[in-house]
Amino acid sequence: MINEAMRRLVSESSGDGAWAEIAERADAPETYAVMSYYDDAVTYALVGAASEVLGTPADELLRDFGHYWSTRVGPENYSDILGATGTDVVSVLSNLDEMHARLQSLYPGLRPPSFSVTGDGGGSVEVRYGSERTGLASFVVGLLEGLGDLYSTPASVEHLSSPTSAQPYDVFRVTLER
Ligand code: HEM
Repeated sequence: MINEAMRRLVSESSGDGAWAEIAERADAPETYAVMSYYDDAVTYALVGAASEVLGTPADELLRDFGHYWSTRVGPENYSDILGATGTDVVSVLSNLDEMHARLQSLYPGLRPPSFSVTGDGGGSVEVRYGSERTGLASFVVGLLEGLGDLYSTPASVEHLSSPTSAQPYDVFRVTLER
């Protein structure tokens, strides 16, 4: 699902030829079945190759991709699931673990992330993101900014800290305009 969404974004913004070159450079397939499992190494290789071919830093691509996922892929391809998860940024984030867990019961190979939200003093919340994977903080920034745009409450997102052994999650401050 993630690899296929990346293909769609790159093809839309840079053309099918750019995507073909990226897939070749990553030694990866050009298309992906949405609910099949692919090794994470394929996804990381695609991001690295896209960064080289498009001349854009990987973190910038991941952030753009997160935004695209929240504003286009989620609402266009998974609107039922997204609608059942929540109706604004905070409710979606609060119910995300339960939603990913339901998907995991259907697709036991999934290793979903974990999100929690705290505080709501004046439209600003702290979001914790835990994952078995590394290097996806910029993807999460884009996802959060995209959710802000999707629900018409533009979000400014600050990455406050990266995981440590004592605190095994990223922390973000998300400030919503209402
Ligand atoms: C209808 C909506 C959604 C569906 C169907 C969905 C489904 C999935 C699936 C299938 C994966 C791959 C997990 C794996 O292969 O191990 C995934 C990963 C992920 N999802 Fe969702 N998701 C949705 C919404 C969201 C939203 C709104 C956010 C965040 C704000 C989010 C955050 C993530 C992140 C960060 C990952 C990467 C995995 C990691 O960090 O280890 N998802 N999701």
